[in-house]
Amino acid sequence: MSDELMGARARQQDIYLAGVSGAKPAVPVSPHRLERVARRKMSRTGFAYIAGGAGAERTMAANRAAFDRWRIVPRVLTDVTARDTSVTLFGRTLPVPLLLAPVGVLEMAHADADIAVAGAASDAGVPMIFSNQASRSMETCAAAMGDGPRWFQLYWSRSTDLALSFVQRAERSGCDALVLTLDTTILGWRPRDLDLGYLPFLRGKGIAQYTSDPVFQREVAADMAAFERRSTRVTPSAVRTLIQLARAHPGRFADNLRSDVPIAAVQRFIRTYSKPSLNWDDVAFLRERTSLPLLLKGVLHPDDARRAVDHGVDGVIVSNHGGRQVDGGIAALDALPGIAGAVGGEITVLMDSGIRTGADMYKALALGADAVCIGRPYAYGLAIAGRRGVGEVIENLLSDFELTMALSGCQTIADISADRLVRDGA
Ligand code: FNR
Repeated sequence: MSDELMGARARQQDIYLAGVSGAKPAVPVSPHRLERVARRKMSRTGFAYIAGGAGAERTMAANRAAFDRWRIVPRVLTDVTARDTSVTLFGRTLPVPLLLAPVGVLEMAHADADIAVAGAASDAGVPMIFSNQASRSMETCAAAMGDGPRWFQLYWSRSTDLALSFVQRAERSGCDALVLTLDTTILGWRPRDLDLGYLPFLRGKGIAQYTSDPVFQREVAADMAAFERRSTRVTPSAVRTLIQLARAHPGRFADNLRSDVPIAAVQRFIRTYSKPSLNWDDVAFLRERTSLPLLLKGVLHPDDARRAVDHGVDGVIVSNHGGRQVDGGIAALDALPGIAGAVGGEITVLMDSGIRTGADMYKALALGADAVCIGRPYAYGLAIAGRRGVGEVIENLLSDFELTMALSGCQTIADISADRLVRDGA
């Protein structure tokens, strides 16, 4: 990117010039305002699901606090007229070291859900990691992306056939890489959702990868032979749930309302979703069954990262799932230097959990990440303005990053090295 009015400077100018005629960005630039405005656009249950974390949300707080303990030391007089923010991951050059983390149940933010995100990601050339718990199938999203980069994130279910079917579909959908998430073999304890008694999957939301899958459909069909409708108290809420189920399930709403298949699909999903026994043998098994680059997400200990290398894995994502799984856990940024020290240079190291600004991106890269991912911020952009909202969140973050990089004296990503940071107070 050159200093002509492109990239970050063009974005600044657009916003300030629009401001002369009294217009303010509908999708707030400030991360705090972004969350506040998104909250107003979402249902209570939707906001709780997206914003919430495990327990007392201390891991979420730690994720943010960790960034504050590092300070950027700008270098001056380095001529930053020409700035190159590009990076190459698994043979593909990306305009910036940013990906959209897999976020499930995006229909809770906006009716266009994953399709809107896919469009915005592809406009920006930023990879979208399709979630295993997506609201729209990976094939539908891929079709909305043209040549735009995409990856697929897998939750390994109890049904190995199903897991492998997801992997094959990802390969056929043009995904550049496969991400196996390790930190959610069991759902974390999430008080905001528990207090509302609300889990979206039970309403048929966030299970589109399953209901569109031939192996899953066969499994549900087999279940139907012995299906018995459980007697549930008929309350207005139970009726609403039935309607939601019929709406979320593929096919005609009227047919779904009369059918037991949508309920059977949810019941099958609940039985199959999680595999608490997941272990290194499964990684070895998967490694042999796909030629896609394989990354492990949720790695927080250097020894686990080393073990990933031993298993022929191509990358790790240093992540605590945005603080949604273990309360009182290590901040992802605090785990990053140890992991980058143990495996950086050998395999790709990505990081997420708490990235909100360009400075956050810069710090993560300086501490050894090859690229970073964001989760909640783009879901908030989606809630506010659909595809355009996601696009604006991406553009704002990238502009902020580009300016942080330039103002710190870096021309390229390779310039962002550990000696560009000091510990706060050091
Ligand atoms: C997630 N995350 C997630 N991760 C994953 O591997 N598969 C998934 O389906 C989901 N679903 C999901 C839903 C919601 C609502 C959130 C907020 C997060 C975790 C996600 O990929 C990422 O690790 C975090 O969101 C990163 O933290 P920030 O950017 O949200 O702080």
